[in-house]
Formats: sequence, C-alpha cells, structure tokens
Amino acid sequence: MPDTKFVLHESEIPRSWYNVLAEAPTPPQPPLHPGTGQPIGPDDLAPLFPIDLILQEVSTDREIPIPEEVLDVLRLWRPTPLYRAHRLERAIGTRSRIYYKYEGVSPAGSHKPNTAVAQAFYNARAGRRRLATETGAGQWGSSLAFACRQFGLECKVYMVRVSYGQKPYRRVMMETWGAEVVPSPSPDTAAGRGILEADPESPGSLGIAISEAVEDAASRDDTSYSLGSVLNHVLLHQTVIGQEAQRQLALAGERSVDVVLGCVGGGSNFAGIALPFVGQKIAGDEIEIVACEPAACPTLTRGPFAYGDTAQLTPLVAMHTLGHDFVPPGIHAGGLRYHGVAPIVSQLLLDGLIRAEAHNQTECFAAALEFARSEGIIPAPESSHAVKGAIEAARRADESGTEQVILFNLSGHGHFDMGAYDAYLQGRLEDFELPEDEIDRALRAIESLPKPAGAPA
Ligand SMILES: Cc1ncc(COP(=O)(O)O)c(C=O)c1O
Repeated sequence: MPDTKFVLHESEIPRSWYNVLAEAPTPPQPPLHPGTGQPIGPDDLAPLFPIDLILQEVSTDREIPIPEEVLDVLRLWRPTPLYRAHRLERAIGTRSRIYYKYEGVSPAGSHKPNTAVAQAFYNARAGRRRLATETGAGQWGSSLAFACRQFGLECKVYMVRVSYGQKPYRRVMMETWGAEVVPSPSPDTAAGRGILEADPESPGSLGIAISEAVEDAASRDDTSYSLGSVLNHVLLHQTVIGQEAQRQLALAGERSVDVVLGCVGGGSNFAGIALPFVGQKIAGDEIEIVACEPAACPTLTRGPFAYGDTAQLTPLVAMHTLGHDFVPPGIHAGGLRYHGVAPIVSQLLLDGLIRAEAHNQTECFAAALEFARSEGIIPAPESSHAVKGAIEAARRADESGTEQVILFNLSGHGHFDMGAYDAYLQGRLEDFELPEDEIDRALRAIESLPKPAGAPA
C-alpha cells in the first residue's frame, strides 16, 4: 500500500515567501486613493500598516526571506501534512490520485495564522502596541488573537454581530488568547455609533466591521489595521502552503501535478496553494489551476474586473468584484461571503493562468460528508468547495479515461461549524439562485469608480 501522509521535517519549512508578481505576465494595476481616485503611494498606507508590509505589498522580488522570529512561531504546526486521499478515491471509485494539503492543524484551525503571525511580527518590530481587525465567522479574528499573543500585542476584534451571537465559542477562543472582542456595529467607533443610531438592532456586516477596525487604527498612533485576505502581502505569506506541497508531491513520487484547486473567499488560501504552481505553469508546465467559489457569491465567475473597495475607506483595488453594496446570501461558508477577490487572483484569471468555477452549498456539504466519512477530517464549510471541486475534477478525468494527479487545499477544519452540518443533516440547508438583476443592482454602486486598464468592455 502506498503511503498516506507525506510529512516534512521542521527544517524544511520554506525560508522565503514566493512572489508571483516577479513573473506574472501582467503587472499589477496601481491601487487608487478612495477620495481622489489617484494612484496611492506608501505614505498613504502608513497610518494603517507598518513599512515592512507596505514594501511587501509593492515588491516584485521573486523571493522574500521569512524572518527567523516568524519561522519560530510557524514551527508550532508547520510543515503541515500532505495526505493521499486513498479512502476518498475508493469511495468515489476514481482512477486518479487525489492529494490534500491540510491547514487545519494550526492552533486556530485554518491557514489564516500563516499571515497573522507575519503581520503581528512586523507590527511589533515597528513599535506598534495594538492591532485592530474585523472578523465574520471568527477564523481570522482567532488567528490574529493567537498571533498577537505570540508577539505581546493587544488585539481588538470587531466581530459581525450575527456571528457574535451565533458563534460564541469562536469569541471565547479569541478571549482565551487575550483579545478584546466586541459585536459590530459597536459604540466604540463613530462608524459603529452612526449605524446603531439609525438601527439599534443592526446585524452588522463585514463592511461595517472593516470600517470600525480601520477607524480604530487610523485614530490611534499605537494601532495598526490588519486584514486577513485580499492584499498582496497576505497572499505572499500564504505561499508556504504551495511550496511545501511541491516538495511533498515529490516525496510521494509524483513528477507532475495535473490539477490544483482551492476555495476562494478573498483569495488567500487559494493563492497560498496555487501561486507556486502558477510559477511552474509560467515556466512551461501544463497544470489546470481552479478557484472554487460559492454560487451564492460568484465574484470570479459573474463579477466584472473593476476598481472596487472593501468599505469605502480603504484604497480602491482592481479586482473581480460584485461591488461593496453586494450582500451575499447567508450561506454557511461565512469566510467565502466577500464581494471582491484579491487583485493578484483576479489578474491571473484575466490572463488565463487560472480558471474559476462556482458550486452550490448543498452540493459542497454533500462532498464534505463524503470526505468526512472516508478520510475522517470534517472540513470547514469554506474548504468543502475545494473538496467538491476535486471530486468533480476526478470525475471529469474518469469520464475522459485519464488518470490524473489532483491536489487541493483543505484550508481548515469545521469543528466550530457543527450548526451548519446539523442544518445539512436535518435537510434544512437551501441553495440560493442569484438573479442577474440583483448583481446588476449591486454593481451600480461601483459604476462611477475608475476602470482598470485591461478590463474587458
Ligand atoms: C477555513 C477557511 N477557508 C477559506 C476561507 C476564505 O478566505 P480566503 O479566500 O482568504 O482563503 C476562510 C475565511 O475565513 C476560512 O476560514
């Protein structure tokens, strides 16, 4: 029987992050100032981020060394294991070989600490004492709470109020690591107070929570803002995933990989596994690279490439977006309910180096159950989109009579998502058909924003 787990020694954690911008065919579009519409410079970002992260945001160096202090914390769970999904392969009867990289072994249970640790380190080194952030489902907030604790920083998390009510254990996890967590909208910021005055019962949204965290950081010298996805430096920090997977596939005796998949919210775990393979593809390898998104929030498959913003306060970035007015239906993959996708991922899609597909939540939960019942691990609802994509890729290969090597990123476990599994098992989960006129309505909010070069007419 061939091996099941491919593990690297601690000394084999990648020593540098891989920056695809050094090799990508199209240079990134400049971020624009939300007020003036003009390209922004490092000075505009200085109130929000420390200089090291700003430099990484604009760097085109192919490799950026990982500081020893960051490696030291990553060592707590990295390298993460690569599994050959023997049991899933048997369950679905495929001739293909399926591998998954498991990021759920981190302290917070997902890939998010890969960047949280790096961000906390650079902020501490720049003399910041405190970080402010938003969280929806709680994965990002708990990752930053853990990372801040490692570097002696305070952490303030604005948690979308509905999630605050629905996911008390994620809140307790953050508090265990010492973070202060408030339901957003909160009375702690002008943005939050304004919304509470208009609607004391507001359930909150990711956009409101971002506004609060940005205001918090901008109004205090000792505080930076921290974002868990979308931005170039966040994607960069995640590339340890794909670099480890390249080595592990070699350990498994695979000389090439045919399909690489990840789920996409803002794009960071997908980029983490995919970008090193995009590098291989640019160098001539034939690899199909697939971004799997929810049909209820179809940013890459149905959103235009446009200048969009996260909350009307942050810089405008060129990305596939449904506009900041788009409020995705309440699907259980909370981490995929974001209206924009990282500029790097968006540009690679335009350049034809990756492709995107959308899946409904009930078919994703069916795939997650198939996975849990064969492989044992219960995937996060977000990750179930990649599981679904991988099973589909294996089916397509079987239908065409080929035997392929398929790799996907299992970005996190679903231990805090039992409510969602319960709803699925009880037959209470529904799919959402997103009407075209709802997308048109949301897109009108970004109609007046500048259009990026290269955007299809
Ligand atoms: C487990 C998991 N996977 C995926 C995502 C989506 O984010 P991203 O696209 O940045 O990887 C999230 C976001 O919270 C998450 O918690």
